[in-house]
Formats: sequence, structure tokens, C-alpha cells
Amino acid sequence: MSSSPILSTIAVLGGTGKEGKGLAFRWAKAGYRVLIGSRNPEKAKAAAMEILDLLGGKVFVEGATNTRAAELAEIVVLTVPYSAHRETIESVRETLQGKILVDVTVPLAPPKVTRVQMPPAGSAAQEAYALLGPNVQVTSAFQNISYDLLMHPEPIECDVLVTGTSKEARLKTLKLVLAAGLIGWDAGPLENSAVVEGLTSVLIYINRESGSRNAGIKITGILAGSEHHIAL
Ligand SMILES: NC(=O)c1ccc[n+]([C@@H]2O[C@H](COP(=O)([O-])OP(=O)(O)OC[C@H]3O[C@@H](n4cnc5c(N)ncnc54)[C@H](OP(=O)(O)O)[C@@H]3O)[C@@H](O)[C@H]2O)c1
Repeated sequence: MSSSPILSTIAVLGGTGKEGKGLAFRWAKAGYRVLIGSRNPEKAKAAAMEILDLLGGKVFVEGATNTRAAELAEIVVLTVPYSAHRETIESVRETLQGKILVDVTVPLAPPKVTRVQMPPAGSAAQEAYALLGPNVQVTSAFQNISYDLLMHPEPIECDVLVTGTSKEARLKTLKLVLAAGLIGWDAGPLENSAVVEGLTSVLIYINRESGSRNAGIKITGILAGSEHHIAL
């Protein structure tokens, strides 16, 4: 266990998938209680077992339905394809009241995933906030981290930009970024998520053009000692 988190239980909705399972792996490894959410509880339990096996069983990770996982957690992370974004949020809207939702969704519109196509609300995260209402703090993070890198313990050469509806929620999300072994930055209000989400299409384009898989971003030029992540 490498940290003693304040938020002890994290639900990862769609945590059976590529990005969510990778984040769940890193948070379980860091000592958080992790609940993998799915539409199918058996699928969730299988994903939890996979993480338990990878980490030698000495961690807390369990599978449940998305609704049950959201009920039991203090902080809820959403990792589903954009096509399932609205439906998944609506299925847990009541359960999320008073909690924090960390939205990882990128509003990709296949097949043109290398082209930025933002929804009318401005971003997926702003859509989530509009659906959930003011009693749910919404943050947005991890859109620029390739799933490929998450299921390994090695350091990741990509920073995480965190935007959100309140400073408090952004700081809590930055703790999760740190726990996942990444450097995070408070990138301001939820409206700024449009840039972060859009950046994913740019990275996918760069990957395609360069024959790479894991293009990422780094924030540079920060005055020594002023890094938000160090202050956490
Ligand atoms: N993959 C990456 O490298 C990456 C990187 C950054 C951000 N993201 C973003 O993270 C999100 C998840 O990406 P992913 O690659 O992990 O996706 P994924 O593996 O295709 O799907 C994740 C999970 O979403 C659920 N899901 C799929 N279709 C659904 C539907 N029609 N209705 C309800 N739930 C559905 C499934 O869970 P159940 O069947 O168990 O319910 C699935 O396991 C996306 O918005 C993506 O843009 C991905």
C-alpha cells in the first residue's frame, strides 16, 4: 500500500473496459477500495478477479452492477464509450446526488476519431453536469492517458489535466491522479474540459501518423515549488 487515501471507496462505472480496468488496477494497487461497475455483475466480478490475480490478491477490488457500485462509493468514475454516456449517467443519477463524478469520457464520433467533434453542451463532462444537476460535483480527467499504459506498474510519461465544477472536487480528483502514479494539474473550470477531451483526437491523430500507440502531453515551464501536485 503506497498511500492512505481520504476517499476510501471508488466506483469505476464501465470498469470492465480498457480504460476503467486500467485505472481500477492502479487505484487498487495504491490501497483504495475499488468497485468495478458493469451492466452485468458477472462481467464485473470477472474483471475484479483479473485485477486481484494481477496484484497477488492483497488488495480490495470487487465487482457489482453500475448502480450498486455507485451507491457504495464516495467517488464515482465514469469510463464508458460516449455512445453510452447519457444512458449510464441517467441510470445512476439519483445515486450520485451529493457525490463526485469523475468523467473520463471522450466524445468521439467513430469512424472520424481523429477529428475533434464536441457536443452542443461544449464537452461530455458539461453534458454530465447538465444531466446530474448542481448537487453533484463533476470533474473531468484521464482523457489523454492511453489504456495501454495503465495495466502496468511502470511510470507513465503523460500528465493529467483535471477540470471540474469546484476547486474542492478538483483537488480530490488530483489525489486520485497521484494515487494512479501520474502527475496531475488543476486545469480550471469544467468548461476547460472541452480542450482536454478534444486533445484526445489530436493524440489519436499523432499516434496514427507516427505509428505510435501512446502519444501523451506534458506541462512544462512551471516555477519550481508551485506545482499543484506536490502540494497535495
Ligand atoms: N481506451 C483508451 O485508451 C482511453 C483513453 C482515454 C479515455 N478513454 C475514454 O474512456 C471511455 C472508455 O473507453 P474504453 O476504451 O475503456 O471503452 P470500452 O472498453 O469499449 O468500454 C468500456 C465499458 O463501457 C461499457 N459499455 C460499452 N458499451 C456500452 C453501451 N452501449 N451501454 C452501456 N455501457 C456500455 C462496457 O461495460 P459493461 O458491458 O461491463 O457494462 C465496457 O466494458 C471512453 O469514453 C473513451 O473515449 C479511453
